[in-house]
Amino acid sequence: MKQFISAEDVPSVPQLVATALDYKKSPFKDRGLGENKTLGMIFLNPSLRTRLSTQVAARNLGMEVVVFNIDKEGWALEMNDGVVMSGNTTEHVKEAAAVMGQYFDIMAIRTFPGLKNKEEDYTEKYINQFVKYAGRPIVSLESATLHPLQSLTDVITIKERWQQPRKPKVVMTWAPHVKALPQAVPNSFAEWMNAWDEVDFVITHPQGYELDPKFAGQAPVIHNQEEALEGADFVYVKNWSSYKDYGKITCTDERWMITNERLKNTNNASVMHCLPVRRNVVIADEVLDGPQSIVIPQAGNRVWAAQAVLSEILKHQ
Ligand code: CP
Repeated sequence: MKQFISAEDVPSVPQLVATALDYKKSPFKDRGLGENKTLGMIFLNPSLRTRLSTQVAARNLGMEVVVFNIDKEGWALEMNDGVVMSGNTTEHVKEAAAVMGQYFDIMAIRTFPGLKNKEEDYTEKYINQFVKYAGRPIVSLESATLHPLQSLTDVITIKERWQQPRKPKVVMTWAPHVKALPQAVPNSFAEWMNAWDEVDFVITHPQGYELDPKFAGQAPVIHNQEEALEGADFVYVKNWSSYKDYGKITCTDERWMITNERLKNTNNASVMHCLPVRRNVVIADEVLDGPQSIVIPQAGNRVWAAQAVLSEILKHQ
């Protein structure tokens, strides 16, 4: 694997999942793989899980890690080519990425969308500028439209918990939120569910929250949440802002929040969320604190996903 920006970079999802689950059993078995190699983690936005789990994963492989909060500690970056830099930006990504590429063997970047300009976000301008100029393998720590480390984690979490011969029914449901959030997590979850193809995948959301068809694929979309949740084995909860009316909140219906009542017709479904989650807005306390929530072990699996990805890149450098 040469980079990790989307599911399309992965030659075999089942193989990568198996590698991650092997690391879960034996975290230090490839301790020498990253010896004398450095991972540079570049953050343009905040993070808890992605930052910490990827650092732990890199260290398990024997790598050195440097974390750079470029948004707070670096020069203001210019991302557009060919501009006269007479405004607020101080350093062009051409130099910044290329220089960081001199220091690190692998670079990992977090760059959220602006949610103002759909074309700019959906062409992944920012992360692609790093791919273009860094000269090193790039790992996405969440980009404008995708969050592949999260989605690989989610596949691992479903795989390790599902022991039956039939495919599990996995329902991704929109839930309310007070802020306009990116579509990266739901886009990515849909992309990976479709690429993995070991689940019956259903999406439910209010009218107007359709995802980019490039990621949603052929997954059935049901606008009645109660109907969609019937018989679900896994419920993946996430808010996102509208893709159609780009970046806008067009529904605030609190009945979409996940409660025990909402889960009553599921197959005692396990409830997943990428975190952070706003309690009693997205998911009720009774669910997050109850036996059906698996959000903490799900977040724990972030380490094994990151370790599998870094090891595959190290092996092919
Ligand atoms: N799920 C996730 O990416 O968490 P952080 O934003 O805290 O990294």
